[in-house]
Amino acid sequence: MIKRRTLIVSSLGAAGAGVAIANHYLNRHQAPEQPQKRGIARFAVTGDTPLRERAADKGLIYGAAAQHQVLTTNVEFAQRFAQECAMLVPANELKWQALRPTPERFDFSRSDWMANFAQRHNMLLRGHTLVWHRALPKWFEETVDRTNAAKVLTEHINTVVQHYAGNIHSWDVVNEAIVPNKTKDGLRQTPWLRLLGVDYIEMAFRTAAAADPQALLVYNDNNLEYDNAKTAVKRTQVLKLLERLKSRGVPVHALGIQSHIGASPQGFNAKKLRDFLKEVASLDLKILITEMDVLEKNLLEANNRDAIIAGVYQDYLSLVLDEPAVNTVITWGLSDRYTWLTNFAPRQDGAPIRPLPLDAQLERKLAWNAIASAFDQAPPRQVK
Ligand code: G3I
Repeated sequence: MIKRRTLIVSSLGAAGAGVAIANHYLNRHQAPEQPQKRGIARFAVTGDTPLRERAADKGLIYGAAAQHQVLTTNVEFAQRFAQECAMLVPANELKWQALRPTPERFDFSRSDWMANFAQRHNMLLRGHTLVWHRALPKWFEETVDRTNAAKVLTEHINTVVQHYAGNIHSWDVVNEAIVPNKTKDGLRQTPWLRLLGVDYIEMAFRTAAAADPQALLVYNDNNLEYDNAKTAVKRTQVLKLLERLKSRGVPVHALGIQSHIGASPQGFNAKKLRDFLKEVASLDLKILITEMDVLEKNLLEANNRDAIIAGVYQDYLSLVLDEPAVNTVITWGLSDRYTWLTNFAPRQDGAPIRPLPLDAQLERKLAWNAIASAFDQAPPRQVK
């Protein structure tokens, strides 16, 4: 349970800023003993230590996804990114669509720039994603068939993984391969399943492990967070997939839980989610929170939304960070100015969305406080 911190007005740095943020909200919303006041105070943190260091203090890694186009054109954003993040995930530059302009050619220009940026700023690099049913290049459909699919897939994984071998923390080897109830084992009907059958997942992991034995190899998926029948089935099918892979000695090392979470109280069942994490950990797997952000599309509340969004971050992270197997937290972006949700999940009232730790002016928000306090409160873990 999160221990409530008393508000400590320390140096007028970001610490002051942290408290100032809370105070600013308090002042604006002050009415004697308003519940909000208590709610806001829950986000107070001490000091101005960036998220990357707060996480590192507990043996955790904090990072975010970003795009080459943004990091190369917005210097201030790049600086804030390097200040807050210990890990960089190229949001699109390591997908087939970006890497494979033609069947013969690999274009590492943008992903190499991002790898160098990460190295220059003492950040880990994370690869997303080697096998996915989306972001495939236009030539894929007319070029890849049952006769050459295995060669095309293994050549891609070999070339890309060897290119970054030794300089990458982890790879999402396979992404979003499970959809509940569609088939017996829940495998999504993807071009890979159609062309290669159910063994494409094992083939991908074995190929990646051979290409870079050091990288942490991750199965990544979404919609594993909530408490509803569909999620319950998906959790079971993902667990079955992981058990099957482990039982065959397939080198899968971790589960990636995307964590695109709705702000409107769809509701977690803390115990069920905690038990799911325990079951994954019992397979001797690590767990990474790989794409966290908070969606406002069903959130009608306008005034207090920063506190509501921050509450989702704090409640969800304090729950998952209680599991020692969780070693990494990635937000799918850092600033509200650059988020896929602007197009994918706009607010019904059209107000600009605020799903991430920093606002569009790169200022820390209550969500930043919530993530900071979740790291500060997290039980420390062994750094592998
Ligand atoms: O770079 C091209 C540009 O040259 C072209 O002019 C423009 C117009 O078509 O498209 C640009 O590519 C877009 C790319 O984002 C870069 O902005 C793609 O069309 C667009 O599909 C791609 O969207 C990405 C999406 O994955 C699909 O790859 C989003 O940025 C990215 O945030 C999103 O991330 C996914 C994770 O990979 C997996 N989990 C869910 C998550 C959100 O959908």
